[in-house]
Amino acid sequence: MPRFVVEYGSVGRPPEPDGRLDGPAFHRNHEPIWSAMAAFMDGAQGEVLELGSGTGQHVTEFARRAPQLTWWPSDYNARHLDSIEAWRRHSGLANLRSPQRIDLTDADWTWHGSGKLTAILCINVLHISPWRVSQNLIDGAGRQLRDGGRLFIYGPFKRDGAHTAPSNATFDASLRAENPDWGVRDVRELDTLAQAAGLSPAEITTMPANNLVLAFARGVRHN
Ligand SMILES: C[S@@+](CC[C@H](N)C(=O)[O-])C[C@H]1O[C@@H](n2cnc3c(N)ncnc32)[C@H](O)[C@@H]1O
Repeated sequence: MPRFVVEYGSVGRPPEPDGRLDGPAFHRNHEPIWSAMAAFMDGAQGEVLELGSGTGQHVTEFARRAPQLTWWPSDYNARHLDSIEAWRRHSGLANLRSPQRIDLTDADWTWHGSGKLTAILCINVLHISPWRVSQNLIDGAGRQLRDGGRLFIYGPFKRDGAHTAPSNATFDASLRAENPDWGVRDVRELDTLAQAAGLSPAEITTMPANNLVLAFARGVRHN
């Protein structure tokens, strides 16, 4: 099964009667992703928005681990929004809000809450979406993060124009064959977007299976 297929329910556990979907990648990914964010999240206060929340399992797990933060999931897919809401209800967590429909192809996307965000999180979205989704994500983070806030992005990435592993090159080719607008993005190009949006260059944490967590800080100047 290719890594970009998100037909939840056809792999992993079957859907629960209440609509909760299971993403097999969640079980592999959430622990290392949290380890890259924990130092920031543990000491933070305020609101955290996730974009492209998928099943809702990551945001639910992270809301459990950081109860002092308020977590706001989102996606653009109706079935995923139903699953996120079902996970929220199942969790009983008071600091996890109902999902919002946010489509990152909309350049003017906004978070429907009040004030600036402490953090934005986006896991495994940028390689299965057009380049303008990367542009809009980073532009929107520049607009909606508070100073010192962080944008965390997880996925496979190129560095300085080169793949970090042969398996990522093969994956990139399969993505582009599936949809010419998709593909593994380059950290250098994301840094260029970040600079224009008032964010720092990415602080990079290596992850299992040749993935990375990129952490961009708002209000930290490029040299
Ligand atoms: C591979 S899944 C990852 C889901 C989840 N973040 C995870 O890691 O388990 C990609 C998600 O991005 C969402 N997505 C794709 N394009 C999007 C867009 N333009 N705006 C918002 N979400 C989008 C999909 O609906 C899907 O839920």
